[in-house]
Amino acid sequence: MRYATIGTGWITDAFIEGAKIAGGLKLAAIYSRSESTGKAFAAKYGEVPVFTDLEKLAKSDIIDAVYIASPNIFHYPQSKLFLENGKHVICEKPATATPEQMKELIELSRRKGLVFMEAIMMRYLPARKTVHNALKRLGNITTARLDFSQLSSKYPIYKSGSLPNVFNPAMAGGCLMDIGIYCVYAAVDFFGYPKKILASAGFLKSGADGYGTSVFEYDDKLVTLTYSKTGQSHSGSEILGDNGTLKINSISTLTGVTLIEQNGREQAAKLLVGEIPRPKLMSGEAAAFSDFSSDPSRHRDEIDSAAEQALMVSEIMQTIRKQAGIRIADMPD
Ligand SMILES: NC(=O)c1ccc[n+]([C@@H]2O[C@H](COP(=O)([O-])OP(=O)(O)OC[C@H]3O[C@@H](n4cnc5c(N)ncnc54)[C@H](OP(=O)(O)O)[C@@H]3O)[C@@H](O)[C@H]2O)c1
Repeated sequence: MRYATIGTGWITDAFIEGAKIAGGLKLAAIYSRSESTGKAFAAKYGEVPVFTDLEKLAKSDIIDAVYIASPNIFHYPQSKLFLENGKHVICEKPATATPEQMKELIELSRRKGLVFMEAIMMRYLPARKTVHNALKRLGNITTARLDFSQLSSKYPIYKSGSLPNVFNPAMAGGCLMDIGIYCVYAAVDFFGYPKKILASAGFLKSGADGYGTSVFEYDDKLVTLTYSKTGQSHSGSEILGDNGTLKINSISTLTGVTLIEQNGREQAAKLLVGEIPRPKLMSGEAAAFSDFSSDPSRHRDEIDSAAEQALMVSEIMQTIRKQAGIRIADMPD
Protein backbone atom coordinates (compact mmCIF):
# COMPACT_ATOMS: atom_id res chain seq x y z
CA MET A 1 0.00 0.00 0.00
CA ARG A 2 1.56 3.31 -1.15
CA TYR A 3 0.73 6.13 1.24
CA ALA A 4 1.21 9.87 1.57
CA THR A 5 1.47 11.92 4.76
CA ILE A 6 -0.12 15.25 5.64
CA GLY A 7 1.50 17.27 8.45
CA THR A 8 5.20 17.46 9.17
CA GLY A 9 5.18 17.29 12.99
CA TRP A 10 6.91 14.64 15.17
CA ILE A 11 3.79 12.44 15.16
CA THR A 12 4.16 11.93 11.39
CA ASP A 13 7.76 10.75 11.91
CA ALA A 14 6.48 8.35 14.58
CA PHE A 15 3.80 6.98 12.24
CA ILE A 16 6.33 6.51 9.40
CA GLU A 17 8.61 4.59 11.79
CA GLY A 18 5.60 2.57 13.02
CA ALA A 19 4.61 1.81 9.40
CA LYS A 20 8.15 0.52 8.70
CA ILE A 21 7.82 -1.90 11.63
CA ALA A 22 4.31 -2.92 10.54
CA GLY A 23 5.32 -3.62 6.93
CA GLY A 24 2.93 -3.53 3.96
CA LEU A 25 3.03 0.29 3.75
CA LYS A 26 5.35 2.28 1.50
CA LEU A 27 5.88 6.01 1.97
CA ALA A 28 5.19 7.40 -1.53
CA ALA A 29 4.54 11.15 -1.09
CA ILE A 30 4.70 13.95 1.46
CA TYR A 31 2.42 16.96 1.63
CA SER A 32 3.41 20.25 3.23
CA ARG A 33 2.08 23.76 2.73
CA SER A 34 5.65 24.78 2.07
CA GLU A 35 8.05 23.20 -0.43
CA SER A 36 11.07 23.80 1.83
CA THR A 37 9.42 22.27 4.93
CA GLY A 38 8.27 19.31 2.84
CA LYS A 39 11.71 18.78 1.32
CA ALA A 40 13.45 18.99 4.71
CA PHE A 41 10.97 16.46 6.10
CA ALA A 42 11.22 14.15 3.05
CA ALA A 43 15.04 14.18 3.16
CA LYS A 44 14.85 11.88 6.20
CA TYR A 45 13.16 9.21 4.09
CA GLY A 46 15.09 9.17 0.79
CA GLU A 47 13.68 10.30 -2.55
CA VAL A 48 10.04 10.89 -1.58
CA PRO A 49 8.12 13.35 -3.80
CA VAL A 50 6.78 16.48 -2.10
CA PHE A 51 3.37 17.96 -2.92
CA THR A 52 2.20 21.43 -1.91
CA ASP A 53 -1.15 21.10 -3.69
CA LEU A 54 -3.55 18.90 -1.75
CA GLU A 55 -6.03 18.38 -4.63
CA LYS A 56 -3.21 17.26 -6.89
CA LEU A 57 -2.02 14.77 -4.26
CA ALA A 58 -5.55 13.43 -3.70
CA LYS A 59 -5.96 12.83 -7.45
CA SER A 60 -2.46 11.41 -7.91
CA ASP A 61 -2.11 7.78 -8.97
CA ILE A 62 1.20 7.37 -7.14
CA ILE A 63 -0.64 6.81 -3.82
CA ASP A 64 -3.41 4.47 -2.60
CA ALA A 65 -3.77 5.86 0.92
CA VAL A 66 -3.05 8.80 3.20
CA TYR A 67 -2.09 9.37 6.85
CA ILE A 68 -3.44 12.73 8.09
CA ALA A 69 -1.80 14.56 11.00
CA SER A 70 -2.82 18.17 10.42
CA PRO A 71 -4.56 20.45 12.97
CA ASN A 72 -7.93 18.97 14.00
CA ILE A 73 -10.18 21.34 12.05
CA PHE A 74 -8.72 20.11 8.72
CA HIS A 75 -9.28 16.41 9.40
CA TYR A 76 -12.82 16.33 7.99
CA PRO A 77 -12.29 18.24 4.72
CA GLN A 78 -8.96 16.53 4.02
CA SER A 79 -10.32 13.03 4.77
CA LYS A 80 -13.34 13.74 2.57
CA LEU A 81 -11.16 14.95 -0.31
CA PHE A 82 -9.03 11.80 -0.27
CA LEU A 83 -11.99 9.41 0.14
CA GLU A 84 -13.78 11.10 -2.76
CA ASN A 85 -10.67 10.50 -4.84
CA GLY A 86 -10.62 6.79 -4.01
CA LYS A 87 -7.90 6.81 -1.34
CA HIS A 88 -7.93 4.94 1.99
CA VAL A 89 -7.60 7.26 4.98
CA ILE A 90 -6.08 6.89 8.43
CA CYS A 91 -6.58 10.16 10.30
CA GLU A 92 -5.23 11.34 13.64
CA LYS A 93 -7.63 11.78 16.53
CA PRO A 94 -10.18 13.30 16.62
CA ALA A 95 -10.77 12.17 13.01
CA THR A 96 -13.66 14.63 12.76
CA ALA A 97 -14.84 17.55 14.90
CA THR A 98 -18.47 16.34 15.11
CA PRO A 99 -20.38 13.03 15.01
CA GLU A 100 -22.31 14.26 11.96
CA GLN A 101 -19.04 14.57 10.04
CA MET A 102 -17.90 11.18 11.36
CA LYS A 103 -21.12 9.51 10.18
CA GLU A 104 -20.86 11.13 6.76
CA LEU A 105 -17.28 9.96 6.22
CA ILE A 106 -17.95 6.43 7.48
CA GLU A 107 -20.85 6.18 5.01
CA LEU A 108 -18.76 7.65 2.19
CA SER A 109 -15.94 5.17 2.82
CA ARG A 110 -18.42 2.24 2.86
CA ARG A 111 -20.04 3.36 -0.40
CA LYS A 112 -16.64 3.52 -2.04
CA GLY A 113 -15.32 0.28 -0.53
CA LEU A 114 -12.54 2.24 1.22
CA VAL A 115 -11.12 2.41 4.73
CA PHE A 116 -11.64 5.46 6.94
CA MET A 117 -9.93 4.84 10.24
CA GLU A 118 -9.28 6.98 13.33
CA ALA A 119 -5.66 6.60 14.46
CA ILE A 120 -6.23 5.39 18.00
CA MET A 121 -3.20 3.44 19.21
CA MET A 122 -4.85 1.64 22.12
CA ARG A 123 -7.41 -0.11 19.91
CA TYR A 124 -4.71 -1.90 17.91
CA LEU A 125 -2.27 -2.83 20.67
CA PRO A 126 -1.93 -6.33 22.20
CA ALA A 127 -2.23 -4.56 25.58
CA ARG A 128 -5.93 -3.93 24.87
CA LYS A 129 -6.66 -7.65 25.23
CA THR A 130 -4.42 -7.84 28.32
CA VAL A 131 -6.42 -5.04 29.95
CA HIS A 132 -9.78 -6.60 29.04
CA ASN A 133 -8.65 -9.93 30.54
CA ALA A 134 -7.40 -8.18 33.68
CA LEU A 135 -10.73 -6.36 34.11
CA LYS A 136 -12.41 -9.78 34.44
CA ARG A 137 -10.22 -10.50 37.47
CA LEU A 138 -11.22 -7.38 39.41
CA GLY A 139 -14.57 -8.75 40.59
CA ASN A 140 -17.39 -6.25 40.77
CA ILE A 141 -16.09 -2.96 39.35
CA THR A 142 -17.90 0.02 40.83
CA THR A 143 -15.44 2.87 40.39
CA ALA A 144 -12.82 3.97 37.89
CA ARG A 145 -10.70 7.06 37.49
CA LEU A 146 -9.40 7.53 33.96
CA ASP A 147 -6.85 10.31 33.67
CA PHE A 148 -4.78 11.99 31.00
CA SER A 149 -3.28 15.11 32.54
CA GLN A 150 -0.11 16.17 30.79
CA LEU A 151 1.39 19.61 31.12
CA SER A 152 1.62 20.69 27.48
CA SER A 153 5.04 21.49 26.05
CA LYS A 154 3.17 24.24 24.15
CA TYR A 155 1.71 25.83 27.31
CA PRO A 156 4.76 28.08 27.97
CA ILE A 157 4.56 29.28 24.32
CA TYR A 158 0.86 30.00 24.80
CA LYS A 159 1.53 31.89 28.05
CA SER A 160 4.16 34.02 26.35
CA GLY A 161 1.53 35.34 23.92
CA SER A 162 1.53 32.90 20.95
CA LEU A 163 -1.47 30.78 20.00
CA PRO A 164 -0.44 27.20 19.17
CA ASN A 165 -3.09 25.27 17.21
CA VAL A 166 -3.76 23.00 20.17
CA PHE A 167 -5.00 25.97 22.24
CA ASN A 168 -6.94 27.55 19.38
CA PRO A 169 -10.72 26.89 19.23
CA ALA A 170 -10.68 27.84 15.52
CA MET A 171 -8.43 24.81 14.94
CA ALA A 172 -10.77 22.56 16.99
CA GLY A 173 -8.05 22.49 19.65
CA GLY A 174 -8.46 22.28 23.42
CA CYS A 175 -7.86 19.66 26.05
CA LEU A 176 -10.90 17.43 25.41
CA MET A 177 -10.23 17.18 21.67
CA ASP A 178 -6.49 16.68 22.16
CA ILE A 179 -6.18 14.27 25.09
CA GLY A 180 -9.55 13.97 26.88
CA ILE A 181 -10.56 11.84 23.88
CA TYR A 182 -8.26 9.05 25.13
CA CYS A 183 -10.18 8.83 28.43
CA VAL A 184 -13.47 8.74 26.50
CA TYR A 185 -12.13 5.95 24.26
CA ALA A 186 -10.98 3.94 27.28
CA ALA A 187 -14.34 4.34 29.07
CA VAL A 188 -16.27 3.24 25.98
CA ASP A 189 -13.88 0.37 25.26
CA PHE A 190 -13.88 -0.95 28.84
CA PHE A 191 -17.45 -0.21 29.95
CA GLY A 192 -19.57 0.71 26.90
CA TYR A 193 -21.85 3.68 26.30
CA PRO A 194 -22.63 5.57 29.54
CA LYS A 195 -26.21 6.01 30.71
CA LYS A 196 -25.62 9.58 31.82
CA ILE A 197 -22.83 12.15 31.49
CA LEU A 198 -22.00 15.10 33.73
CA ALA A 199 -19.24 17.32 32.35
CA SER A 200 -17.43 20.51 33.21
CA ALA A 201 -14.35 22.31 31.90
CA GLY A 202 -11.92 25.12 32.70
CA PHE A 203 -11.07 27.64 30.00
CA LEU A 204 -8.03 29.55 28.82
CA LYS A 205 -8.23 33.16 27.61
CA SER A 206 -8.06 31.84 24.01
CA GLY A 207 -11.48 30.26 24.63
CA ALA A 208 -10.10 26.70 24.46
CA ASP A 209 -10.66 24.31 27.35
CA GLY A 210 -7.40 23.79 29.25
CA TYR A 211 -8.68 21.10 31.61
CA GLY A 212 -11.89 19.25 32.40
CA THR A 213 -13.73 16.52 34.26
CA SER A 214 -16.58 14.25 33.21
CA VAL A 215 -18.48 11.70 35.24
CA PHE A 216 -19.90 8.75 33.29
CA GLU A 217 -22.78 7.03 35.04
CA TYR A 218 -23.47 3.34 34.30
CA ASP A 219 -26.10 1.09 35.92
CA ASP A 220 -23.49 -0.41 38.25
CA LYS A 221 -20.54 1.95 38.27
CA LEU A 222 -19.30 5.53 38.22
CA VAL A 223 -16.35 6.43 36.01
CA THR A 224 -14.57 9.77 36.47
CA LEU A 225 -12.56 11.17 33.59
CA THR A 226 -9.98 13.90 34.25
CA TYR A 227 -7.82 15.58 31.64
CA SER A 228 -5.58 18.59 31.65
CA LYS A 229 -3.01 20.32 29.50
CA THR A 230 -2.17 22.86 32.23
CA GLY A 231 -0.87 20.46 34.89
CA GLN A 232 0.93 17.12 35.12
CA SER A 233 -0.50 14.05 36.84
CA HIS A 234 1.83 11.45 38.32
CA SER A 235 -0.82 9.01 39.47
CA GLY A 236 -2.27 7.64 36.21
CA SER A 237 -5.60 5.82 35.99
CA GLU A 238 -7.15 3.24 38.33
CA ILE A 239 -10.03 0.81 37.97
CA LEU A 240 -11.36 -0.51 41.26
CA GLY A 241 -13.17 -3.80 41.84
CA ASP A 242 -13.94 -5.80 44.98
CA ASN A 243 -11.23 -8.37 44.05
CA GLY A 244 -8.52 -5.98 42.95
CA THR A 245 -7.34 -2.83 41.24
CA LEU A 246 -5.93 -2.22 37.78
CA LYS A 247 -3.47 0.66 37.54
CA ILE A 248 -2.68 2.12 34.10
CA ASN A 249 0.09 4.72 33.86
CA SER A 250 -0.75 5.79 30.30
CA ILE A 251 -4.36 5.56 29.21
CA SER A 252 -3.51 6.46 25.58
CA THR A 253 -0.89 3.75 25.08
CA LEU A 254 -2.00 1.21 27.72
CA THR A 255 1.54 1.01 29.08
CA GLY A 256 2.63 0.73 32.71
CA VAL A 257 -0.29 -1.58 33.49
CA THR A 258 -0.26 -3.26 36.92
CA LEU A 259 -2.83 -5.67 38.34
CA ILE A 260 -3.09 -5.64 42.14
CA GLU A 261 -5.18 -8.59 43.29
CA GLN A 262 -6.70 -8.46 46.75
CA ASN A 263 -7.11 -11.66 48.74
CA GLY A 264 -8.47 -10.72 52.15
CA ARG A 265 -5.81 -8.43 53.57
CA GLU A 266 -3.15 -9.84 51.21
CA GLN A 267 -2.22 -7.99 48.05
CA ALA A 268 -0.25 -9.28 45.05
CA ALA A 269 0.91 -6.84 42.37
CA LYS A 270 1.91 -7.95 38.89
CA LEU A 271 3.20 -5.76 36.06
CA LEU A 272 1.23 -6.78 32.95
CA VAL A 273 2.53 -4.24 30.42
CA GLY A 274 5.76 -2.25 30.76
CA GLU A 275 7.01 0.69 28.72
CA ILE A 276 7.00 0.39 24.91
CA PRO A 277 8.83 2.75 22.49
CA ARG A 278 6.56 5.12 20.49
CA PRO A 279 7.21 3.69 16.96
CA LYS A 280 6.34 0.22 18.24
CA LEU A 281 3.14 1.65 19.77
CA MET A 282 2.21 3.22 16.41
CA SER A 283 2.99 0.03 14.50
CA GLY A 284 -0.25 -1.62 15.70
CA GLU A 285 -2.55 0.92 14.04
CA ALA A 286 -0.27 1.02 10.97
CA ALA A 287 -0.46 -2.79 10.63
CA ALA A 288 -4.26 -2.73 11.00
CA PHE A 289 -4.52 0.04 8.38
CA SER A 290 -2.28 -1.90 6.01
CA ASP A 291 -4.33 -5.11 6.45
CA PHE A 292 -7.71 -3.36 6.22
CA SER A 293 -6.87 -1.34 3.13
CA SER A 294 -5.26 -4.25 1.29
CA ASP A 295 -8.63 -6.06 1.31
CA PRO A 296 -11.45 -3.96 2.85
CA SER A 297 -14.23 -6.46 2.09
CA ARG A 298 -12.41 -9.23 3.98
CA HIS A 299 -11.95 -6.93 7.00
CA ARG A 300 -15.35 -5.20 6.83
CA ASP A 301 -16.44 -6.40 10.31
CA GLU A 302 -13.27 -5.07 11.98
CA ILE A 303 -13.50 -1.81 10.00
CA ASP A 304 -17.18 -1.41 10.95
CA SER A 305 -16.53 -2.19 14.60
CA ALA A 306 -13.79 0.46 14.78
CA ALA A 307 -16.04 2.95 12.98
CA GLU A 308 -18.93 2.24 15.36
CA GLN A 309 -16.67 2.91 18.34
CA ALA A 310 -15.28 6.09 16.76
CA LEU A 311 -18.82 7.33 16.22
CA MET A 312 -19.83 6.56 19.83
CA VAL A 313 -16.79 8.46 21.09
CA SER A 314 -17.57 11.39 18.81
CA GLU A 315 -21.19 11.53 20.05
CA ILE A 316 -20.05 11.44 23.69
CA MET A 317 -17.49 14.19 23.02
CA GLN A 318 -20.30 16.31 21.58
CA THR A 319 -22.39 15.77 24.72
CA ILE A 320 -19.42 16.75 26.88
CA ARG A 321 -18.77 19.87 24.78
CA LYS A 322 -22.41 20.95 25.03
CA GLN A 323 -22.56 20.48 28.81
CA ALA A 324 -19.19 22.05 29.51
CA GLY A 325 -19.66 24.95 27.08
CA ILE A 326 -16.70 23.97 24.90
CA ARG A 327 -17.01 25.66 21.54
CA ILE A 328 -15.35 24.94 18.24
CA ALA A 329 -15.28 27.96 15.96
CA ASP A 330 -17.73 27.87 13.04
CA MET A 331 -19.59 24.87 14.50
CA PRO A 332 -23.28 25.14 15.38
CA ASP A 333 -24.15 24.86 19.11
N1 LIG B 1 -1.55 9.89 18.32
C1 LIG B 1 -0.80 10.67 19.05
O1 LIG B 1 -0.17 10.28 20.02
C2 LIG B 1 -0.69 12.11 18.66
C3 LIG B 1 0.36 12.89 19.16
C4 LIG B 1 0.47 14.21 18.73
C5 LIG B 1 -0.45 14.74 17.86
N2 LIG B 1 -1.47 13.96 17.41
C6 LIG B 1 -2.48 14.50 16.47
O2 LIG B 1 -1.80 14.87 15.28
C7 LIG B 1 -2.39 16.04 14.71
C8 LIG B 1 -1.32 17.07 14.50
O3 LIG B 1 -0.80 17.47 15.76
P1 LIG B 1 0.48 18.43 15.84
O4 LIG B 1 0.72 18.72 17.25
O5 LIG B 1 1.57 17.89 14.98
O6 LIG B 1 -0.16 19.73 15.15
P2 LIG B 1 0.52 21.05 14.56
O7 LIG B 1 1.99 21.03 14.85
O8 LIG B 1 -0.25 22.22 15.00
O9 LIG B 1 0.29 20.89 12.99
C9 LIG B 1 0.64 19.71 12.29
C10 LIG B 1 1.05 20.03 10.87
O10 LIG B 1 -0.01 20.64 10.19
C11 LIG B 1 0.47 21.72 9.39
N3 LIG B 1 -0.16 22.95 9.90
C12 LIG B 1 0.17 23.66 11.02
N4 LIG B 1 -0.61 24.76 11.13
C13 LIG B 1 -1.43 24.74 10.07
C14 LIG B 1 -2.45 25.62 9.64
N5 LIG B 1 -2.75 26.73 10.30
N6 LIG B 1 -3.10 25.30 8.50
C15 LIG B 1 -2.80 24.18 7.81
N7 LIG B 1 -1.83 23.32 8.18
C16 LIG B 1 -1.16 23.59 9.30
C17 LIG B 1 1.99 21.76 9.56
O11 LIG B 1 2.58 21.09 8.46
P3 LIG B 1 3.15 21.91 7.21
O12 LIG B 1 3.67 23.22 7.72
O13 LIG B 1 4.24 21.03 6.71
O14 LIG B 1 2.02 22.06 6.24
C18 LIG B 1 2.23 20.98 10.81
O15 LIG B 1 3.39 20.21 10.81
C19 LIG B 1 -3.49 16.47 15.68
O16 LIG B 1 -4.72 16.02 15.19
C20 LIG B 1 -3.15 15.77 16.98
O17 LIG B 1 -4.32 15.44 17.72
C21 LIG B 1 -1.59 12.66 17.79
